[in-house]
Amino acid sequence: MNLLAAPRPVILDGDPGHDDAINILLAHASPELAVLGVTTSYGNVALERTTRNALVTLALIGSHTPVYMGADRPLLVPRLSAESVHGQTGLDGPLLPSPAREAEALHAALFMIEAVRARPRQVSLLPTGPLTNLALALRLAPDIAPLIREIVWMGGSLDVGNWTPAAEFNALCDPHAAQIVFSSGVPLTMFGLNATHQAIATPARIAPFRGLGTPVGEVVAELLEFFAEHHRERYGWDGGPLHDPLTSAYLIAPELFGVQPMYVEVDTSGGPSSGRTNCDLWRVTGRAPNANVAVTVDADGFYALLTERMGRL
Ligand code: RIB
Ligand code: CA
Repeated sequence: MNLLAAPRPVILDGDPGHDDAINILLAHASPELAVLGVTTSYGNVALERTTRNALVTLALIGSHTPVYMGADRPLLVPRLSAESVHGQTGLDGPLLPSPAREAEALHAALFMIEAVRARPRQVSLLPTGPLTNLALALRLAPDIAPLIREIVWMGGSLDVGNWTPAAEFNALCDPHAAQIVFSSGVPLTMFGLNATHQAIATPARIAPFRGLGTPVGEVVAELLEFFAEHHRERYGWDGGPLHDPLTSAYLIAPELFGVQPMYVEVDTSGGPSSGRTNCDLWRVTGRAPNANVAVTVDADGFYALLTERMGRL
């Protein structure tokens, strides 16, 4: 952690979603980051709901960070959703405030383009859902690719999937968009399931959030308790993996993570492995790495950071 450096401008692009919402909270609680905007996409639930959930999350902490609505569907494939994991609202569990405002009129992809052009080589993009908005921005304005400081994405997997045997949900939602991003040349770090499954929110890790004795601490505990249900039933785990906040945590405290450069290509075949992020771990393709793939997570360190930051809100 380098608290003396100027805050990094970031855009949080997601589909809230329990873990996306906690990522929004973490980024706002962290002086290392300056959140320029929250952009939304279809994903866990439909776009109208993910956008409302972003506004609700910001209302919880009294933040006026602008919210920009983006894609309501993938580029080519049919839309998926994950109510089975996140409930009908996408943020089932706690009682949450109603948003007192609406999203901005500008499309998420256009906001990304404007923000990156206004701050060349400074802005980091943190997508935690399907990559459709980012792919649209890169196709609409190819000039921004060399101007983006970096992308840190939660999605994909070095090994198995969670929505098909081969594919992780965010990658499967829009494999074509993901491949556009992976082939863009922008410095990219991938937090796939192989990493995020190391960060399970067990009851022992949830208790300190409740122990904060604050409204935010209670909401985070209730979000994680709801999120745990699906993962107990499906996987037999003692909680849910807190996927998305690893992206902000990586910028705040990179020492908590181990990453390895690899060539990654997304399967867009439409076959049974479509959406799989093929990671060339052993460099068998001879192709130059295009991504840093997260491989190790100091989970206790991550939860200590997250708890301390939630205590600031
Ligand atoms: O596969 C996990 C990812 O899918 C997370 O980003 C979660 O929020 C959902 O979007
Ligand atoms: Ca997400």
